[in-house]
Amino acid sequence: FSATTPYTTLPSVLLLGPSGAGKTALVTLFERGPLYHRQQQQSTSTPETLAVSSPVAKTHTSQVPFSVELAVATDTPNPSYRDDLDARGATAKKFLLVDTPGHAKLRSNVLAPLSDLAPTLSIPSTLSSASTSTSTATTSRSSDTGAQKSKLKAIIFMVDAAALADSSSGDALAPTAEYLYEVLLALQRRFHKRVGSRAPRSIPVLVAANKLDLFTALPAALVKSNLEAEISRIRKARSKGLLDSGVGTDEAGVVGGDEADDWLGAYGGDKFSFKEMMEFDVEVEVIGGNVVGEGPGADMWWKWIGERI
Ligand code: GTP
Ligand code: MG
Repeated sequence: FSATTPYTTLPSVLLLGPSGAGKTALVTLFERGPLYHRQQQQSTSTPETLAVSSPVAKTHTSQVPFSVELAVATDTPNPSYRDDLDARGATAKKFLLVDTPGHAKLRSNVLAPLSDLAPTLSIPSTLSSASTSTSTATTSRSSDTGAQKSKLKAIIFMVDAAALADSSSGDALAPTAEYLYEVLLALQRRFHKRVGSRAPRSIPVLVAANKLDLFTALPAALVKSNLEAEISRIRKARSKGLLDSGVGTDEAGVVGGDEADDWLGAYGGDKFSFKEMMEFDVEVEVIGGNVVGEGPGADMWWKWIGERI
């Protein structure tokens, strides 16, 4: 530690995913969890009519990253974000959940650190509180002085499982898979940066298939296979682009060296599967849930975090 970091910073979980997936809604759900009383729940409420006492704040498109401090119980196999840890005197692990803007033009900065051997996120020294404000109200840019460096422990990539099912409202699958492809490729590049035999600490990825309260939403298994199929298409198209331009090909037209590094997953395969990422020590799991409405809820995601930070 240098003299400029007088206190240790909590590890972080990075929340990525396309715009409208529900990232900011999830952050406010987790943050309000322990304060929220089940009796107040109105199953018929829509995001527009939720009151302040509701578990989820009204969100709008995020402009800048912001983070909240959370704690997950470690003394139970089934932790819930609703746990009142203080009241229970529970042992818990604290972490930062870092929300990011999903808009393609705003997310370039979030991908860069993922290829670092020991990725850190800049956390503004004043943590925002989403409980009374919208996501942008209390954030500051990560370039601000006084930003703390937090160790990245895990990534949640959130997708809108209802949008993925709906081919009429434009194709959400292609841009969603494209973003996930970039995230996984960044982590794969990180793996190749290892020095000697010492592998970098693994950073697992949870694909959170959100909005399963909507009957039109794809179940998690279909979210998984659709994303895998689309990523197969993307990597095939990209490798064709490399071949056409003659980059990295020898006389026999064989792609080698650097271009093999730019191929996501097991080299040369036809169908991509998330399992291939284990070759690069990247665990990818797809779990369904919902932030608002009736459904499996968000506790499976919370549990996933608790097991990995
Ligand atoms: P950006 O900030 O633009 O990247 O989007 P975001 O991922 O932060 O999305 P946000 O949390 O703002 O949610 C977008 C909309 O989806 C809001 O109207 C939410 O209320 C709604 N939403 C979030 N989660 C769920 C869910 O589980 N079910 C349903 N039905 N709607 C949800
Ligand atoms: Mg947001």
